[in-house]
Formats: sequence, structure tokens, C-alpha cells
Amino acid sequence: MSEEDTEYPIVVEGLRNAFGPAVVHDNLSLKVRKGEILGVVGGSGTGKSVLMRSIIGLQYPSAGEIDVLGRSITDAAPDEVIGVRSRWGVLFQGGALFSTLTVGENVEVPLKQFYPELGDQFRKEIAQFKVQLSGLPLEDAAKYPSELSGGMRKRAGLARALALDPELLFLDEPTAGLDPIGAAAFDALTRELKETLGLTVFLITHDLDTLYEICDRVAVLADRQVIAVGTIPELLAMDHPWIQEYFNGPRGRAAKDSQLRARAQTHDQRLRGLEQNGPVQEGKAQE
Ligand SMILES: Nc1ncnc2c1ncn2[C@@H]1O[C@H](COP(=O)(O)OP(=O)(O)OP(=O)(O)O)[C@@H](O)[C@H]1O
Ligand SMILES: [Mg+2]
Repeated sequence: MSEEDTEYPIVVEGLRNAFGPAVVHDNLSLKVRKGEILGVVGGSGTGKSVLMRSIIGLQYPSAGEIDVLGRSITDAAPDEVIGVRSRWGVLFQGGALFSTLTVGENVEVPLKQFYPELGDQFRKEIAQFKVQLSGLPLEDAAKYPSELSGGMRKRAGLARALALDPELLFLDEPTAGLDPIGAAAFDALTRELKETLGLTVFLITHDLDTLYEICDRVAVLADRQVIAVGTIPELLAMDHPWIQEYFNGPRGRAAKDSQLRARAQTHDQRLRGLEQNGPVQEGKAQE
């Protein structure tokens, strides 16, 4: 196993993507650390989805090198990529569920593709488990996408992304179109799944609350490249106009304030708990 595989499950170097004369990426580089939630931000049309599609081998770049889990995506023969493909899950920007299949059947699609030897009943049970893991009640596995709300559809897409027990999860705008409570619940679920399943998450978002709440680092796409990667305080210290406008504009400030308020509340709750229960005495269990 190479060092890149253990430290950086995604390595992009010198990426170029162009559609005719329109150059979307030029000499773009990015490394995603193992076990992190990396938020990816940038104005609409800066190429966030195209970057994700390049990393998962759906968009062949004009130049550059992409390694995922120690395997080259750009140099590999298609059958070599198949092995690594089963190690990631993707929630596409539009959800991309098959409308003629139930939620459970949608989750079964990758299972059928990669594990054709699984028995029907076992495959169905795995799919039902993933549906519940994504926070949907079991009975929703039998529903069609058209019977679900937007938020439920996102969870169904997440269930399908988790079908193969991935090491890497790609989420393209997972909270777009959700109400703030639904978005916060989806964020909490993402964080919990990352922590319990040890996932590395590549998360494209416009949602500033998501960035503040769950992302370990944030990569900023602008001018056809990743112009900065770091924690939000690190990005705030940079004087790039787009970064300043984004994080220090009215919406950025509101997201930051709401996070500070939430932290203060938790701090107060902890203090109240201490007042009621007395200070925690270390070593008490040994008495
Ligand atoms: N298959 C394609 N053919 C031609 N142009 C494309 C194709 N896919 C994407 N583009 C163009 O590439 C640019 C980047 O698109 P992309 O979907 O990656 O943007 P984005 O950053 O994800 O935007 P948004 O935040 O709106 O989702 C856009 O100008 C888009 O029109
Ligand atoms: Mg997009």
C-alpha cells in the first residue's frame, strides 16, 4: 500500500478539463486526507461537479493525474478501475435515483453490479439496512422516488451511496433544497456516518452552515484551480477577494455567529450539568 493510499485517498495533480474552448480546470491540484470531511466550495459553474466526476472516472480529463485509494484513475484500464469503484459511494447533485425502481431496489443496483452472487433475500436485507442507516424508516424502502419529499430522496440517494460499505463518500450538494432543520439533520448524519464508519468525505456544498458544522477543511475553487485548502480560520486569514466575500459576507457571518451561539449553549449546558452533579472527580472509580 502506498503512502498516498494511507495518507491521501484522493490525489489530483495538474488536472485540466476543457469543453471545446471553455477551460474549466487548468493545472488544478488537490489532496484529500484520510478520514476528513473536505468541503468543496466555489461559485456556480467553477467546476466542482466536473472535478468530482473526474475523480470518480466519469469525466476523462484533458491532462493531469488522479489517484484514488492508491490507484491511478487516469492511467488505469477500465477493468482495473472497477475494483476501486466499489470502494466509493456517490450522491449526485440531482439525486439520480431510478424513478421506476423503489428506494430499496435503487440501493440494490450497485449490490447486483458488484456482488452478483448475492442471494435475492440477502441483497434485499442489506438494502433495507442501508435505507435505515440513512435515517429513513424501513417502510420507505418499498416507496418510489416520486412518493418521497426532496429530503427523503437525498437520504435514499445516501443509502445507495452506502450500499457497498464505501471507504470514500462523494456528496454533491447534499443539503441543497432542504429546510434548515432537515439540512442540519443531514449534516449530523454525515458526521456520524463518517465517525462510525471511518469514511473520508468529499462534500461539495454552498451551505455555509454545513461548512462550519461538519467540515474538517475546506477547498476553494476559483480561477480554474483550487486556490486554497484549509480550516475556516485559515481561510479567513487569507485576503483573496472571493474567500473574504464568501466567508465574511452577511451569510458567512450569520453562519459563523450561529455556530458560536451553538457552542456557547453547549458550554452553558455542560456548566449547568456540573452545578447539578458536582465536579467530575478523577480516579473516583478506583475507590
Ligand atoms: N458535459 C459537459 N459538456 C460541456 N460543458 C460542461 C459539461 N459539464 C459541465 N460543463 C461546464 O463546465 C462548467 C463547470 O460545471 P460544473 O457542473 O462542474 O459547475 P459547478 O461548480 O458544479 O456549479 P454548481 O454550483 O452550479 O453546481 C460549467 O460551465 C458547465 O457548463
Ligand atoms: Mg455542481
